[in-house]
Amino acid sequence: MSHSEEHAATRRDFLYYATAAAGAVTAGAAVWPLVNQMNPSADVSALSSIRVDVSGVEQGTQLTVKWLGKPVFIRRRTEDEIADARSVTLDDLTIDKKSENANKPDTSALDENRTLDEEGEWLVMIGVCTHLGCVPLGDGAGDYNGWFCPCHGSHYDSSGRIRKGPAPRNLDVPISAFDGDELILG
Ligand code: FES
Repeated sequence: MSHSEEHAATRRDFLYYATAAAGAVTAGAAVWPLVNQMNPSADVSALSSIRVDVSGVEQGTQLTVKWLGKPVFIRRRTEDEIADARSVTLDDLTIDKKSENANKPDTSALDENRTLDEEGEWLVMIGVCTHLGCVPLGDGAGDYNGWFCPCHGSHYDSSGRIRKGPAPRNLDVPISAFDGDELILG
């Protein structure tokens, strides 16, 4: 197989992982040299780090991609969602006061510590309910205008923080970063 054929095959593999049509997912190449060095094979490193083109994601919509077998929600929030999420104080967060953000360990669950950019437009989370692992519904679902898990009734707010129901933790924010219009996961 020539190099370009190999590249095309890798691309196809990753397109398979994208569950929404709005963004193309491509294999990330040498994103973090340290991480790549530690990985035993190119296959593993390709799987553990992907790039997602988020240039087509409109405000007020969510792109869902599959990464490491799990859905990842990439939401571009509206001004109202941002204002709503940022008005919440730690006292309001009675179930989990931690950011649960792998990019900012040991920080509080204030919205500023959960979003990918300082303005708070981009929220990236593992789309798996922290109760028993269902995939919550989005687009302003639930009592807190965020996500709702119908399995046992967990309500997450517009920052993905658990506000009501049996789930014990906020939705997890994975290691992620922007590179231009592309979001790097992993
Ligand atoms: S799995 Fe989501 S509420 Fe139980």
